[in-house]
Amino acid sequence: MIVVTGATGNVGRALVERLTAAGRPVRALTRDPQRAGLPPQAEVVRHQLDDPAALFTGATQLFLNLQATGDATGALLDAARAAGVRHVVMLSSGIVREGADTSHPIHIWHAKAEQQVHDSGLAATILRPHAFAANALQWTAQIRVGDTVRGPYADAVSAPIHEDDIAAVAERTLLDPGHEGAAHRLTGPEPITTAQQITAIGHAVGRDLRFTEIPADEADSRLFPHVPPEMLRGLLKGLAASVGTTPETTTAVEDITGVPARPFTTWAKDHADDFKA
Ligand SMILES: NC(=O)c1ccc[n+]([C@@H]2O[C@H](COP(=O)([O-])OP(=O)(O)OC[C@H]3O[C@@H](n4cnc5c(N)ncnc54)[C@H](OP(=O)(O)O)[C@@H]3O)[C@@H](O)[C@H]2O)c1
Repeated sequence: MIVVTGATGNVGRALVERLTAAGRPVRALTRDPQRAGLPPQAEVVRHQLDDPAALFTGATQLFLNLQATGDATGALLDAARAAGVRHVVMLSSGIVREGADTSHPIHIWHAKAEQQVHDSGLAATILRPHAFAANALQWTAQIRVGDTVRGPYADAVSAPIHEDDIAAVAERTLLDPGHEGAAHRLTGPEPITTAQQITAIGHAVGRDLRFTEIPADEADSRLFPHVPPEMLRGLLKGLAASVGTTPETTTAVEDITGVPARPFTTWAKDHADDFKA
């Protein structure tokens, strides 16, 4: 049995779909099983942070998403180990690396949790993706009502990764031997700027979309609903620092899954309906 936290999220949903399609037993955790809309083959269970032991009956593996486990991550790992779980695949972040700014809030958040995973005594595989292509969903509200998207740093650049490519890597690291102890750095295949992402979404939805840059100090949490508010300044700092750089790209998705990572243009086509009114 594989326990998937954050099962209704960008990565978790794709992972549950993959594992159930492969015929694997999955326990999918969510705060609201009624609304989860997960595959019927999955055992969909309410994620009760105050009773983690009950979540791991019969489980051998855990997919850990910090967004869903928060301050309860340590207790969850303890309960998993006590119940007989042997292996955890953790969704961490590409911000964790040699020479990183260890004072960055997003680094602190993930590095602390990686340490908890290491301290748990479970065999661990760490996934360190860079920016998710799904962050572009932050623009859905603006794109549904007009052709101009406002935001900071038109030239911020990243190599965004499709959530299903992260899920594909997670699936392989859960099901194939040899990933225990590994940390995989995951990216999309190519750099793209913020303004170019808006153009790509425009092509996907058949509209001429434009990006209008606003000063960074006018950017607030409403523009970045996927970012915990206390992380916003750190995120903006990262966007500013990326301008004019060449972001890291890795071949890990293809190396691990045998299928090349999908470019942002493919993600935009896959999600075109999300941007339609
Ligand atoms: N976005 C990026 O660019 C990026 C880059 C590198 C790493 N990451 C990592 O990836 C994580 C996000 O993964 P994701 O996009 O797959 O997750 P997500 O969609 O943001 O969230 C996963 C699930 O967690 C639950 N959840 C959300 N907020 C919660 C809260 N405050 N308390 C309890 N449960 C909550 C929700 O499920 P229910 O409502 O069903 O309970 C949600 O569907 C980040 O937290 C970060 O650790 C992100």
